[in-house]
Amino acid sequence: MSVTVEKVAALCRRRAFVFPSSDIYGGLGSAYDYGHYGVLLRSNIKGEWQRSMIQERDDMVGLDSSIILNPKVWEASGHLATFTDPLVDCRTCKLRFRADDLEHAQCGRKPSKHPGETPDCDLTEPRAFNLMFETYIGPVRDSASVAYLRPETAQGIFINFKNVTSSMRVKPPFGIAQIGKTFRNEITPGNFIFRLREFEQMEMEFFVPPADGPKWHEYWIEERRRWHISLGLRESNVRLRPHDPDELSHYSAATSDIEYLFPIGWLELEGIAYRTDFDLVHHTEASGQKLEWIGHEERYVPHVVEPAGGVDRFMLAFLCDAYFEEEVAGRERTVLRLHPRLAPVKAAVLPLVGKSSEMVEKARGLYEELRQVMSTEYDADAAIGKRYRRQDEIGTPWGLTIDDQTLDDGTITLRDRDTLEQERIPLEGAKQLLLDRLEQPWSPPA
Ligand code: GAP
Repeated sequence: MSVTVEKVAALCRRRAFVFPSSDIYGGLGSAYDYGHYGVLLRSNIKGEWQRSMIQERDDMVGLDSSIILNPKVWEASGHLATFTDPLVDCRTCKLRFRADDLEHAQCGRKPSKHPGETPDCDLTEPRAFNLMFETYIGPVRDSASVAYLRPETAQGIFINFKNVTSSMRVKPPFGIAQIGKTFRNEITPGNFIFRLREFEQMEMEFFVPPADGPKWHEYWIEERRRWHISLGLRESNVRLRPHDPDELSHYSAATSDIEYLFPIGWLELEGIAYRTDFDLVHHTEASGQKLEWIGHEERYVPHVVEPAGGVDRFMLAFLCDAYFEEEVAGRERTVLRLHPRLAPVKAAVLPLVGKSSEMVEKARGLYEELRQVMSTEYDADAAIGKRYRRQDEIGTPWGLTIDDQTLDDGTITLRDRDTLEQERIPLEGAKQLLLDRLEQPWSPPA
């Protein structure tokens, strides 16, 4: 069995992870809404990022800046001038294409050909198209009221450099981490939630003494690679790719992508850029406010290393890596082998006989206890096999079954999603046992 984006998308829709947006109106290209399990999975991804970036470190603080910033920010950052894709129009079929990606586009008249390949194709010269979404502030729509939806969360961090250094006990090397919505008017969005026009980024700007920039760049590349693997991505599906000089963003002196082997090929999961002092210097020049570090005996503009990833794209990678179809006892099962800490639901409490009041009472008691500390579901409907299958499809690592033996000796069955092994454990200790297992390292079964 090989996983495809289509199979993952079908499961996501069937099991309330992801719905096409504006569905009843025929949808909206490349926009998606997240259902119940999608909300829980995303919240766990963000929680794990925050845990490793902020909670477990002494050198990091958080921030949540506005989506709409003063338009001068985007002038100073270079986004107004350079955050563009080159576009060509075809005068024959009237379609518009990315000039640097024609080999993935289809000619409007002859879809088997690429634009420019037929004698009828009549392409214009490439023009720069800015990817920022424009809006207006206030009631008047004129050039003075134009504003932009942020195309990266990073700039909100740079413009708060002074606020943070003057209010928090920080000193380079230190970082500011932020999670938030980002908007880009992508020309060729697609592949489900891989490339969206509205998405959520998790970005961290790490401010260091200038001479230490290259060292910290290496550090963060490895640190972020390890994070993805520690949360279950198979090591063989993750690789590093340094950018060639001609593909570097306007602010970057060096960038390495962490790439994931999606079903559609190796593609960027996260970028780790060495932004040098580009942003602080440009905001200093444009705002007149000195953005620098002033220590007891030193004064300098820090250099910046930036690991930047996207919640939606991470979610797709975790889902693709976890998706398996297999035969168990002559029956097909689809299972999401998600890391238990990422799984939307950690435990399902299942009374074997949903009509047995004694079993139901014990099961409800356990459910109430567990849900205080972890996301738990109670399910007393349908045959037990069907209930397990449902939990397998949403990636629930542990099924807890209350049966006749529970009423005799106070033990329950703990079923493991991956090995399908069932063990008897005391009902009394179930909560602590699962809490301990959640903290243990986990790697995908071979
Ligand atoms: N501040 C640097 C920056 O924004 P980027 O490589 O353009 O760098 C960082 O974006 C990450 O954001 C990407 O690695 C990807 O995970 C995510 N991302 C970028 N564009 C996206 C899109 N159109 N849809 C979904 N995720 C996207």
